[in-house]
Amino acid sequence: MKIYIDSSDIKEIKNINKTNMVDGITTNPSLIAKQNKNIKLILKEICQEVKGPVSAEVAAISIDDMIKEARILKRIAKNIVIKLPLTFDGLNACSILSRKGYQTNVTLCFSASQALLAAKAGATFISPFIGRLDDIGENGSQLIFDIKKMFDNYKEIKTKILAASIRSAEHFCEVAKAGADIATIPPKLFHNLYKHDLTDKGLKAFLDDWQNTNQKIE
Ligand code: E4P
Repeated sequence: MKIYIDSSDIKEIKNINKTNMVDGITTNPSLIAKQNKNIKLILKEICQEVKGPVSAEVAAISIDDMIKEARILKRIAKNIVIKLPLTFDGLNACSILSRKGYQTNVTLCFSASQALLAAKAGATFISPFIGRLDDIGENGSQLIFDIKKMFDNYKEIKTKILAASIRSAEHFCEVAKAGADIATIPPKLFHNLYKHDLTDKGLKAFLDDWQNTNQKIE
């Protein structure tokens, strides 16, 4: 499973990208708003740092305006993916842009039927929101299983499942088990994924024992 970082914060992105484990970035209007900087500057810096797909979301809601914004966003860098909301106009814009060769990410997906329509509209990525479904008492990870099962029935579907709104290590593992192609995770969660109390405890014991040997590896 590929890992994308869900952030517009270049410092956090650069820090995690040192590991070479970042396959792409997702942003959204709320994440951009947190930075208090021009959207084009933010995205340019991100695209210079990360060579994989960088999702940039349109803020318009009508087809024509979405297409206009998509053209502007696409000029920022080659690896920009146009993120579109899962609405009638968003699907229309996705269909038009996909046919023009744009990479697209249809966002705010909460049902399997929505995902199937996004695939039909030629979306490069579909973003089902796991955490927000759990928030309303539904099972977000089950949606990934359902979409994966549906997509597997049709060889012609090339749309990648990008599990979004991932809030915990459990979510991360569940979507991997369900066969998501990508999980996009907030920076804080990335740092939680490798931590374990027994790792810290075990390391401390090894280092204490090693000190008692008075040896050096040289
Ligand atoms: C993904 O593309 C979204 O930006 C993101 O995962 C939303 O996550 P949230 O529900 O935690 O805001």
